[in-house]
Amino acid sequence: MRNYDPSSQFAAPGPINRPHISNKSSKVSTQKAARKLYSHRKDMANYQNQIQSHRVGVIGAGISGTAAAKHLAHYSPVFEASDSLGGVWKHCSFSSTKLQTPRYDYEFSDYPWPERDSSSFPSHLEIVEYLCNYAKHFDVLKYVKFNSRVVEIRYVGDRETTQHDVIPAEYATLLRGYPIWEVAVEINQSKSLQWYAFEFLVICIGKYGDIPKMPTFAPGKGQEVFHGKVLHSLDYSKLDKDASRKLLHGKKVAIVGYRKSAIDLAMECAEANQGPNGQPCTMVIRTLHWTVPSYWIWGLPFFLFFSTRSSQFLHDRPNQGRFKTILAPLLSPMRKALSKFVESYLVWKLPLIKHGLKPDHPFLEDYASCQMAILPDNFFSEADKGNILFKRASKWWFWSGGIEFQDNTKLEADIVLLATGYDGKKKLQDLIPQPFSSLLVDSSGIMPLYRGTIHPLIPNMAFMGYVESLSNLHTAELRCKWLSRIADEKFKLPSIIKMIEHTTKETDILKRTTRFYQKQCIAAFSINYSDEICEEMGWNPWRKKNWLLEAFSPYNSQDYEEKKQT
Ligand SMILES: Cc1cc2nc3c(=O)[nH]c(=O)nc-3n(C[C@H](O)[C@H](O)[C@H](O)COP(=O)(O)OP(=O)(O)OC[C@H]3O[C@@H](n4cnc5c(N)ncnc54)[C@H](O)[C@@H]3O)c2cc1C
Ligand SMILES: NC(=O)c1ccc[n+]([C@@H]2O[C@H](COP(=O)([O-])OP(=O)(O)OC[C@H]3O[C@@H](n4cnc5c(N)ncnc54)[C@H](OP(=O)(O)O)[C@@H]3O)[C@@H](O)[C@H]2O)c1
Repeated sequence: MRNYDPSSQFAAPGPINRPHISNKSSKVSTQKAARKLYSHRKDMANYQNQIQSHRVGVIGAGISGTAAAKHLAHYSPVFEASDSLGGVWKHCSFSSTKLQTPRYDYEFSDYPWPERDSSSFPSHLEIVEYLCNYAKHFDVLKYVKFNSRVVEIRYVGDRETTQHDVIPAEYATLLRGYPIWEVAVEINQSKSLQWYAFEFLVICIGKYGDIPKMPTFAPGKGQEVFHGKVLHSLDYSKLDKDASRKLLHGKKVAIVGYRKSAIDLAMECAEANQGPNGQPCTMVIRTLHWTVPSYWIWGLPFFLFFSTRSSQFLHDRPNQGRFKTILAPLLSPMRKALSKFVESYLVWKLPLIKHGLKPDHPFLEDYASCQMAILPDNFFSEADKGNILFKRASKWWFWSGGIEFQDNTKLEADIVLLATGYDGKKKLQDLIPQPFSSLLVDSSGIMPLYRGTIHPLIPNMAFMGYVESLSNLHTAELRCKWLSRIADEKFKLPSIIKMIEHTTKETDILKRTTRFYQKQCIAAFSINYSDEICEEMGWNPWRKKNWLLEAFSPYNSQDYEEKKQT
């Protein structure tokens, strides 16, 4: 055991009670107390009879949960709230949504895309199909319980883990031989709950989707005063192509946001408003971000600048060693030059200056926070035609006829589309019980996860799909392989203090690299990060056939295929 500072970000508020068991019986009569105790015992007996025990439980069957199911499901059921695999690709996409990562980057290491060399980007429907085929191929579907929403999680492990003043020195083995977590599952939206008990839980409920991030307003300035319609991009994603065209055609539309959903919505709006009754839509932009037309920069492939081992050498990374730390200031001008090189191309290629859309921050900061949006074809030709307009505003609110800005200008609108993103942290915090819920996010707004997966102070629970990279599929898959080996006790996690030190260093690097560090994106150092994971798994981290490829060819999922393990 080790003492720790209860005022730190990791301080736990207090011990947890077992379900339905209360010790407050002092004020009731002896008779009443006896009756209550009897009924509790009866409840507990029913409860123990009804509960199903398994070793590992996976919650969510999007990309992350399906990968976890393949690597860990021999132990476990997988609970999926909806009736399908796919997560955001099924429930949070518009008819125009496509992958924005090249397809050879967004594939499982042992299951290539049918046409993996095609330069086209698969539609969201093709991604769901690919995922379903993957699940069928590896016989994963039999573990997935669809229409099964986890509505409550309870901690039933050792009380000492939740004490104020001590944290254990070691993170316990993932499979301890007795339940640590109990999970209530609502099946087919029925009122009755089925309880399960698990030694280890893998949470894959997604960073996006389900809970929209809604802007808040002073009284009298919210959507209640607006006479038109307000939809979040999540509501819009429920509409089919015809319904969305009908909604937008001939309407004055304001789109709040300037990241990928907003950009795609603006394009859908422009397409629905071609012809005589067409109306322009206006994007309301709080922060400008760099947008990219394709994965080519001045005739060179994009991966050359960011996804090769040599290019990643330029960037700071956690645990980079003394030599690299000394070298870091010398590499800083090279990082700036690289960023300027990309920016020079984007400013030349796109009418950013004409439309007032050139960001003030370096391109690198958007890349390092996974915020670089790939533009739909024709986005700027629609803007040049006047079908997409732009309004910069850090503050805005509703009036009866539309949106008002802090510069006292007003925008008339029939429809306001909020492409304001999702609250993935709230989704998690609503599900994870206290005191763990309040440990999930630290004071800098980051989830301090070791290897982007294990919270050092949350026992026997892993989180998949929370760190991001250029390909979230690849990031999740490699971590599932790593996790399954820990579960099988092929290697051990470092001590809790070491894991905390590691996550703290990682947060420092993220903060140093980009002002948008809260996105928890590892794109700038993902190869080095994978090296460390490989080392822990006992794999050779250098996965290419020769030095030249090692230095200049891109790393993707297939480099981490188990067969290639040396
Ligand atoms: C529109 C869109 C496009 C994207 N494009 C890209 C891209 O091009 N490249 C890229 O790398 N990333 C992209 N992303 C990021 C994307 O989120 C990841 O690539 C990946 O699909 C996330 O998968 P996931 O399984 O972690 O989460 P999700 O896809 O969100 O899956 C979570 C699953 O958990 C289920 N669930 C939630 N709560 C519960 C509960 N309580 N009980 C049971 N089940 C529950 C949900 O129903 C869902 O099926 C995109 C995201 C969005 C929203
Ligand atoms: N593959 C695809 O085609 C595709 C399509 C859609 C989405 N995605 C992915 O899905 C994820 C979510 O994307 P998203 O675009 O929905 O959300 P997002 O990336 O979180 O962007 C939210 C946008 O809304 C703005 N915003 C939030 N609150 C605001 C407020 N109160 N006032 C004004 N502006 C506000 C943000 O501005 P600030 O920048 O100032 O915060 C930002 O521009 C991302 O990972 C994205 O890459 C991918």
